[in-house]
Amino acid sequence: MTAKLDLDAPNRAPLKHAPMTIALHWASALLIAMAVSAVLMRDLADSQVARQILMQWHRDAGLMIIPALLARLLVIATVGMANTSADLPQGMRRIAKAVHAFLYLLLLAIPLLGWALTSAHNTPLKFLGMLPLPGLVQANADRADTLSSLHALAAWTLLVAVMAHSVAALYHHYVRRDEILAAMLPDRRSAPSSVAPSGAAGASEPRAAQPAG
Ligand code: HEM
Ligand code: HEM
Repeated sequence: MTAKLDLDAPNRAPLKHAPMTIALHWASALLIAMAVSAVLMRDLADSQVARQILMQWHRDAGLMIIPALLARLLVIATVGMANTSADLPQGMRRIAKAVHAFLYLLLLAIPLLGWALTSAHNTPLKFLGMLPLPGLVQANADRADTLSSLHALAAWTLLVAVMAHSVAALYHHYVRRDEILAAMLPDRRSAPSSVAPSGAAGASEPRAAQPAG
């Protein structure tokens, strides 16, 4: 029996990200959808009370992205990611890494900008209506305008980047017919996980985990 792995072997275990990676990925996507829907619905609402409630939902959903992102980076650093890019051309691998890094950056910057602009408006911030958060910047109307523009610009950039990211995932699934999207879906319960601790030498699964990317 040879130790060399045959990636095309029909009996090879399907690629799968760690359950926590999958859960945090889709939870983050849901939180962003909630934050964006709340702020768009706020624009349509006439009543002041409804507008305030929707803005509070926007802030809470947006703030939850920060711990979700930190948990996600921790899981990726400790558990690793299934190596979904082994069969991809170098260029495609680099683009995917760059897009993921850009998404992480936006996922951190946008909530912090939202938090800072709320401080600049001198609006007290309570996470989930319970936990008072400190101001990030001094109250100042001009600063609030600048932060508001940056927050909006970063948020719309995120939406464009997520669209490109989703189109890429669908391209992999339907055109290249590889396992990249399936590995991120939570529906193959019978499949053994392809994730091994980052850098685990001699991992017995066909494709060992690799650091974030
Ligand atoms: C990933 C998380 C978030 C996303 C995707 C997001 C997205 C957006 C979008 C699309 C808008 C409308 C921009 C426009 O008018 O064109 C907006 C507005 C706003 N967001 Fe966020 N946001 C997030 C997190 C937060 C957080 C955490 C806070 C505060 C703690 C916040 C506070 C605000 C405020 C106050 C506005 C209204 C801007 C103004 O009136 O000056 N956002 N956000
Ligand atoms: C707001 C929405 C989304 C955000 C912010 C986002 C962000 C990310 C990030 C940062 C990664 C890198 C790995 C990780 O941290 O888990 C990733 C991986 C992935 N995402 Fe998303 N994503 C979103 C929505 C989607 C959607 C809608 C799809 C499918 C249509 C999708 C499919 C994937 C796949 C297949 C991977 C794994 C890529 C690989 O193995 O190299 N994502 N996503």
